[in-house]
Amino acid sequence: MNIVLLGPPGAGKGTQARVLCEKFGFLHVSTGDMLREAVKNGTKIGEEAKAYMQRGELVPDEIVTTIVTGRISRVKKGTPFLLDGFPRNEAQAGELDRALEKIKKNLDMVLYLKTSPQVSIERLSGRRVCVRCGANFHTKNMPPRKESICDYCGGELVHRADDREETVKKRLTVYENETKSLIDYYRKKGILQEVSGDLDVQRLFREIKNLFSKERVG
Ligand code: AP5
Repeated sequence: MNIVLLGPPGAGKGTQARVLCEKFGFLHVSTGDMLREAVKNGTKIGEEAKAYMQRGELVPDEIVTTIVTGRISRVKKGTPFLLDGFPRNEAQAGELDRALEKIKKNLDMVLYLKTSPQVSIERLSGRRVCVRCGANFHTKNMPPRKESICDYCGGELVHRADDREETVKKRLTVYENETKSLIDYYRKKGILQEVSGDLDVQRLFREIKNLFSKERVG
């Protein structure tokens, strides 16, 4: 069972992805995480991606599809994968279809976390991430035990540069203009499932788990 998590910035894709991978054994493929890692390591891809990410724009399709298709082609037989943040437009979705066909794998479910813009904005303005291990917190919804310190590794917690108000607005516009059409794309293919991303973390996880048991996942 291979799935895609689809939803606007701040829908909680990364948060749910981590729990789902732990509980159901998916391999987590997050384009945002992979690109941030490339930027941090100063690789050629990171250098190319950096300015787009800082502006809240999509990184060019060729760069992102190369990373993702390379990654999924190396996934061991029998290991399910979960794509988080990919695809983000129809060109990427088409590339994904072709790559999957080549390696004889299917996309079984696209889980759409339908989230209101106010919720997205509130979550991103309060998000804090660990500079060392990448763990996610929120000043109100999921506060760390000690202010600005990661519960897991003691690293410093920071506000992501692209979570500043102006960049968040830009990211939401990009989502509306480029990514939202994928809802119909996957609905037509008959694999779209919708849940409310506005729910709190535990309730949302329960909804997804119920959906998975209906679809016999896990
Ligand atoms: P990426 O990192 O993928 O950003 P995004 O899609 O905008 O998603 P976010 O990571 O902001 O939000 P999320 O839905 O994962 O929410 P989270 O769980 O963290 O991409 C960054 C950039 O990389 C893009 O702008 C683009 O430039 C580039 N990029 C990436 N993929 C690309 C692609 N395919 N093509 C081209 N460019 C690409 O939660 C947010 C906050 O809310 C956290 O603080 C969390 O603690 C809290 N929270 C989470 N869930 C809940 C809940 N249910 N209730 C209450 N609080 C919650």
